[in-house]
Amino acid sequence: MARRPKIAKTVAALRRQVARWVEADETVALVPTMGALHEGHLALVRLARRRADRVVVSIFVNPAQFAPSEDFSTYPRTFDTDVAALAEEKADLVWAPENVAAMYPQGFATRIVPEGAATAGLEDAFRPDFFKGVATVVAKLFIQVAPDIAVFGEKDYQQLVVVTRMARDLDLPLKVIGMKTVREANGVAMSSRNVYLTPDERALAPTLYRVLTLCADKIAKGRPIATILAEGREAIGRGGFSLEYLEARHAETLAPVKSVNDGPIRLLVAAKLGKTRLIDNVGV
Ligand code: PAJ
Repeated sequence: MARRPKIAKTVAALRRQVARWVEADETVALVPTMGALHEGHLALVRLARRRADRVVVSIFVNPAQFAPSEDFSTYPRTFDTDVAALAEEKADLVWAPENVAAMYPQGFATRIVPEGAATAGLEDAFRPDFFKGVATVVAKLFIQVAPDIAVFGEKDYQQLVVVTRMARDLDLPLKVIGMKTVREANGVAMSSRNVYLTPDERALAPTLYRVLTLCADKIAKGRPIATILAEGREAIGRGGFSLEYLEARHAETLAPVKSVNDGPIRLLVAAKLGKTRLIDNVGV
């Protein structure tokens, strides 16, 4: 049986452990998660394992990034299976704050507010406080763990860009590394929220990625972006989704783009199947 990773429940315990590794000149990678781990998360852990001597995985369902109408209380929590999976991947330490107060102490009053092109629109248009909650908790995780590298998934592409920008803006001495999206055999991006899908919705879900890749191919061939996106939006609606956005953005800055000449392009989509919100993205 794989060796269980150590579990730190307080910032003090976490820091004691990391300090020992730093003392021994070992490099440290951080993989932030909200638990309910699937193959997508584990791929990040494997990448971290290859790039650093020690791997810390944080598991914290961060209330600050959920709107009151969202699924904070019902978000899947599977701590024991998560730890078992992380043992298989040889993670060294799980940073699991014992309660919300261990992350947000009484009187907590400081937030990181990302601005600029990376937060303009897309997720921010539908989840207005989301990136403030993400940036605040990720900044705290970076300060608590002080890793050499941190690994994030392209699945949440806008989050990856926002976090990369924040680390640079705040001179945080670590490298943010992106990992490509892990998908089911039918193309659906793995997500902790996929467990919410009914069998009927599961059958519809692959349309999203299919439409994205089709649009990306056509844009790469030089067809006008606006026309292709309009067709894509219609196809997603026909596929049974309620579309929130389908947009083309600059892959690095997320600034809006009008043509393929405007630089490397990323297509990003969010749409609901029933009550479940799915997001995905592809490069052109
Ligand atoms: P969570 O949704 O648990 O995702 C944790 C990390 O796993 C993120 O970097 C996410 O992009 C990555 N990930 C999820 N599904 C993936 C997939 N199918 N392929 C590749 N990577 C995938 O994202 C968060 O948590 C939170 O916002 C967090 C950063 C932890 C801050 O609370």
